[in-house]
Amino acid sequence: MDTIGLFYGSFFGNTERAAGEIKRALERIADVTVDVINIGKVKAEAMLVYERLILGISTWDIGQWQYEWDAKRKAIEKMNFSGRRVALFGLGDQAAYASTFQDAMGQLARLVRARGAVLVGAWPADGYAHDASDAIEDGMFLGLALDNDNQAHLTASRIAAWTRQIAVEFGLRLRAPEDAQVVAR
Ligand SMILES: Cc1cc2nc3c(=O)[nH]c(=O)nc-3n(C[C@H](O)[C@H](O)[C@H](O)COP(=O)(O)O)c2cc1C
Repeated sequence: MDTIGLFYGSFFGNTERAAGEIKRALERIADVTVDVINIGKVKAEAMLVYERLILGISTWDIGQWQYEWDAKRKAIEKMNFSGRRVALFGLGDQAAYASTFQDAMGQLARLVRARGAVLVGAWPADGYAHDASDAIEDGMFLGLALDNDNQAHLTASRIAAWTRQIAVEFGLRLRAPEDAQVVAR
């Protein structure tokens, strides 16, 4: 069975809750085990145990990285992610922080890509009402953008659709096509 490392950092628990939902959704549709790990509790190098990674980060203090992730930034800048596929998800607030929506997810995505990772899980930017975001490239978010402050009602369906997408992009074995359909609805 494949194993994915999901590393997250969370201040108020939104990213942590999403991490658990992503684990459950992915394990339901694919033959995979997702290890969920708080980045604040391990060395950054723990990520390199996994060939497939999911990284979850919230944006704080107007465009800054969530604190536990920020503490790992210098270590990540020296790491080599070659041969690794990485999907990201972020938590943010598109109304109160419309000019820095999801900036941390975008910056973390670019950093691991610059260090050799192949990014998967790009997500359409339609359906959001922000002014600017460091996380958008060619009209797509570099990962799944979640906003529990303004669009909590969309979080479950976004996670269901995105996990199906990354299961395919990660090359995981789907349990059954009809299971994937059920999760996506
Ligand atoms: C002081 C403060 C600053 C914030 N700055 C941003 C920001 O610049 N961009 C953004 O998208 N969200 C911003 N947010 C929203 C948080 O990212 C959002 O509430 C998120 O769900 C928190 O997730 P967490 O509980 O996992 O840390 C900010 C929230 C607060 C309270």
